[in-house]
Amino acid sequence: MEVSAQGLGGLSVVGFYAGGPRDQKKVNKLYREAYDHGVTFFDTAEVYGPHINEKQVGEAIAPFRKEVVLATKFGFDVDPDTGERGGIDSNPKTIRRAVEGMLKRLNTDYIDLLYQHRVDPNVPIEDVAGTVQDLMKEGKVLHWGLSEPGLNTVRRAHAVEPLAAIQNEYSPWTRNPEAEVLPLCEELGIGFVPWCPLGYGFFADAINENTRFSEGDFRAILPRITPENIPHNLEMLYYIEEWGLRKNATPSQITLVWLQAQKPWIAPIPGTSNSVHLRENIRANDISFSSEELKEFQIFQKLKLKMPKMHSRCWMVWAWKLHQKDN
Ligand SMILES: NC(=O)c1ccc[n+]([C@@H]2O[C@H](COP(=O)([O-])OP(=O)(O)OC[C@H]3O[C@@H](n4cnc5c(N)ncnc54)[C@H](OP(=O)(O)O)[C@@H]3O)[C@@H](O)[C@H]2O)c1
Repeated sequence: MEVSAQGLGGLSVVGFYAGGPRDQKKVNKLYREAYDHGVTFFDTAEVYGPHINEKQVGEAIAPFRKEVVLATKFGFDVDPDTGERGGIDSNPKTIRRAVEGMLKRLNTDYIDLLYQHRVDPNVPIEDVAGTVQDLMKEGKVLHWGLSEPGLNTVRRAHAVEPLAAIQNEYSPWTRNPEAEVLPLCEELGIGFVPWCPLGYGFFADAINENTRFSEGDFRAILPRITPENIPHNLEMLYYIEEWGLRKNATPSQITLVWLQAQKPWIAPIPGTSNSVHLRENIRANDISFSSEELKEFQIFQKLKLKMPKMHSRCWMVWAWKLHQKDN
């Protein structure tokens, strides 16, 4: 499967951070603009909304559907009628029900890339792989992937039906994938899709010590951007800004090009609802990072910072729970 060097994530336009779901005409315009600038990889999920983002994306990409890679995710018990979200659920019946709903909401008869959003400890991954395999035989799904899986789960899943992609958090402050996941992707020939590549906007210089989040903005509860932690983390942003001066680029562009330069099979999916930000991010494709520069870009060593200890999955689950509680 081939995708553009950079994709577009759907969380911003569904108003996950703030502002509620964006007006559909604006979403259509934004996605058209992305496509016109070479983006052909669009990411969504059943739980974004729930259901709302899939409808937004389905309508927005309809004019160029056949030319793009459309990715979505199952893995939660979402009521097909009300959209009410339950817990993790990858039972074969739930997967099938989710996919039938996705095809309608996305206004398509196939999904290019179907991910399991979170591994379900109660359903063997072989059963999940087998269900996806059946959906492939029926022509409803072309490729599949996993999000935030364990290494052994990847191997077991891949043995049943080869995985096309793993989608994990990866950005300058979330470097966990480098130790084991990226080497495993390389070994098995699996693509890697960094989510939150811009650290929820932090590496796009959209957050600083004066930022106050509006009510319901998920970022208000993130430990990384609490008033006491933000000055430390800003050191990372300043480092990236120094590189920006050197390469005549913005922090978001340096962050994205740094991710894209790691391996040719890494394609980040920054999310935005803003056309100026979209164009800024896409222009990262015009900047290059040589292998010498990649070696030189040693943010943690330079700043004598420790790699974050908590596994991203642990705090994502924690943050997710808090978010659910809030909503
Ligand atoms: N698999 C998973 O579990 C998982 C989890 C989270 C996310 N995802 C996927 O990954 C995608 C990317 O993650 P994300 O959207 O959460 O985070 P992100 O891409 O790291 O950051 C998005 C935030 O940055 C802002 N932003 C983007 N470009 C900007 C720019 N050039 N200048 C200033 N601000 C900018 C956006 O605001 P504006 O709208 O104002 O631009 C938004 O608030 C999601 O959209 C979703 O598709 C997957």
